[in-house]
Amino acid sequence: MKLKRLSISIFSGFLALTVQAQLPSPEPQLRLTPQNVDEVIRAMTLEEKVHMVIGCGMAMSDDAKFPGTAGRTYDIPRLGIPSAYLADGPHRLAMAPKREFDSHTYYATEFPSSTTVAATFDPEAAFQVGQALGREVKDYGLDVLLAPGVNLMRNVLCGRNHEYYSEDPLVVGKIAAAYINGIQSQGTGTCIKHFAVNNQETNRNNNDSRLTTRPLRELYLKGFEIAIKESQPWSVMTAYNKVNGKYTCEDKELTEDILRSEWGYKGVVMSDWNAGMDAVASMLAGNDMMQPGQDRQYKAIYEAVKNGTLSEAILNRNVKRVLEFVLKSHTYAGYQYPNETDLKGHAQVDRKIGAEGIVLLDNKEALPLAQGVKKVALYGTTSYDMVPAGMGFGSTGIGYYTVSLVEGMRKAGYTVDGKLIKQYKKHLFDEQKRLFPQGRPPFSFTPLPRAEEFLPTAEEMIAQVQDNDIAILTLGRTSGEACDRRIGEFMLKENEKALIKQVSEAYRAAGKKLVVILNICSPVETASWKGYADAVICAFQPGQEVGNCIADVLSGKVNPSGKLPMTLAVNYGDAPSDANFPSDYEFKMPSFAMGTGMNFKSDKKEEKPKVPEANVDYTNYEEGIYVGYRYFDTFGKEVSYPFGHGLSYTSFSYDIESASIEGDQCQLKVTVKNTGKYAGREAVQAYVKAPKGALDKPAKELKAFGKTRLLEPGESQTLTLTWHVMDMASYNEKSASWELDKGEYQWMAAASSADVRDTVVQKIAKSSKVKTLDVMKPQAAIPVNPMVKR
Ligand code: BGC
Repeated sequence: MKLKRLSISIFSGFLALTVQAQLPSPEPQLRLTPQNVDEVIRAMTLEEKVHMVIGCGMAMSDDAKFPGTAGRTYDIPRLGIPSAYLADGPHRLAMAPKREFDSHTYYATEFPSSTTVAATFDPEAAFQVGQALGREVKDYGLDVLLAPGVNLMRNVLCGRNHEYYSEDPLVVGKIAAAYINGIQSQGTGTCIKHFAVNNQETNRNNNDSRLTTRPLRELYLKGFEIAIKESQPWSVMTAYNKVNGKYTCEDKELTEDILRSEWGYKGVVMSDWNAGMDAVASMLAGNDMMQPGQDRQYKAIYEAVKNGTLSEAILNRNVKRVLEFVLKSHTYAGYQYPNETDLKGHAQVDRKIGAEGIVLLDNKEALPLAQGVKKVALYGTTSYDMVPAGMGFGSTGIGYYTVSLVEGMRKAGYTVDGKLIKQYKKHLFDEQKRLFPQGRPPFSFTPLPRAEEFLPTAEEMIAQVQDNDIAILTLGRTSGEACDRRIGEFMLKENEKALIKQVSEAYRAAGKKLVVILNICSPVETASWKGYADAVICAFQPGQEVGNCIADVLSGKVNPSGKLPMTLAVNYGDAPSDANFPSDYEFKMPSFAMGTGMNFKSDKKEEKPKVPEANVDYTNYEEGIYVGYRYFDTFGKEVSYPFGHGLSYTSFSYDIESASIEGDQCQLKVTVKNTGKYAGREAVQAYVKAPKGALDKPAKELKAFGKTRLLEPGESQTLTLTWHVMDMASYNEKSASWELDKGEYQWMAAASSADVRDTVVQKIAKSSKVKTLDVMKPQAAIPVNPMVKR
């Protein structure tokens, strides 16, 4: 019960005395409950309703309840309505770990990046990460994690790819659903984002993604659709960008027609932070809440209700959805949070899943490290400056700790070359001074440069080869929101390539090996140098335990079982989306400042080009459905490592036991046998090749995947992979319907998109059609990239 200051004026003759008394504030007469939402709305003033549909600003300052978090919903104590507290994910609870005048710490676990989680090809792994995250949010008193990010990896240079899952919408949807179910199993809410077609960061607040409805439905909405139907996230966050000319937060066709009418979504929809132009249009579109809330939005909505351009009924509808969201929160339930969380236990979750997401790309009998390998030489600046996670709001950059590779290897029983450690430490110190004379910022909206590599002298190299049993070389890349990567970050720098070559030649000449580790946010070029490596592992960003995760795999404590959730192309330019991406756009300012007319660097007015600039003001998705393996496979284009690829220290055989179609269910039973020497797990992929029909089709598409338990040598397991018949349909833009052709479908059990192990043919006797709403169409014809013309 709150105490309220009460002023009582007592008039006694000529004496007026003011007495200040502390009296208990009355309990609210009406208190929000699940049963009285409409009554509470009736009791709200117009001002209160408008507040309810916009946030209360970001909680960045020290006097906020949860400093460093993204915001909250409006509270109305007189009606028993508390705030629901929101913080960013996806890989950590983004909150300041320290508070002013408070000796307690509020550290959160840095879990594996979304891409790492997807690379496990194991929804159970995503569930476990979600469960731990949901717990941390609850333990620290918050209510909703603004995650997962489920945008498709359309292009390898998108700055936020590490927050996303895959180039394939099925992997996106299944992993996201499990992650959401994990978080929500703790009573903590989620916010699936950024709805939709938010696939670049350059000019993200104004860019118009232009595409036809087939790729829209089959690729860009599909991941959302699967995740939403299989997990019912508490909220959906619309994106910054426009799709076919309309801001997503102002597009009724997206939020009301597709999301709610077609998919039956019941939760709340909120804008991305400061997105959109017209708050009234957002209200009408069923974008229920504007975050983090601005005065101009308050005024616009208030005035629109007053002058009748926004009906109060629409406002009430949106308020109701916000209240239903608040009702689910820990805060509403009065949860007494402990303000500490199981950091030790969650570090183990990170270590386990971080290692399971590591992909063994190549292995010429270099791994697991042989018994005789004791002394290791670590090369590459990243070996001494690991990348646990990506940048952006989702990562405040102030982790609890990061396990270095040196520490990981030492704990695993190896001796790490001390002279090299000293040399790299000095080099990194000098590089930090050169790159950040004012100190390295903990958070940045622009990509932070990484230290340059240096080459050992010939004498040093001879000594290093002599002193060590093996060379391990790490390459690192990081990126973050509001800025895309440039081609130079996909390519290796000349000195990186020179280092790989030099180390490889020197060690091989002595009969020793080189292992290359990729500690990256998103793909890098691998084709030109992989021949120099005896093993290549792609560790993505495994979280705070990064050094342990990698050591676990190198030592063989963990047998790698990750698979690539995206294709590693030979060159930038090989994928058709490369032609329509701001890959060489000169980075002048953070994206949030673009379109504001301000030149961020000089603070002078920026000259805006009169003609809208391609890939900046708008981006044509000229490749249509040919993203990732759908393109490489169909058009026979060589890749460096295919989608779904990932080796193991053991080998597996595949056998299709049975295949059937019953009702609308397809079922494929695959027996996987461990035919090698080590215990291991295998992720099996089921692809379908459709018969030739009226629509152009990709060579094959992933329809299901599953992962075995740890199989001992000789042991086998039968996985049952299922999907719906209509999942094999394609979207016909002309008829606005999903169409399934009759004919013979090839069902393939595969170890990767390029490694099909067993195939069966299934017949569909009758074609079928499912009509959708004919919405979100492009305003003008989208040109077709010549690379995808047949
Ligand atoms: C990001 C969102 C994030 C929000 C709140 C925006 O800049 O795009 O993903 O949830 O900020 O921090």
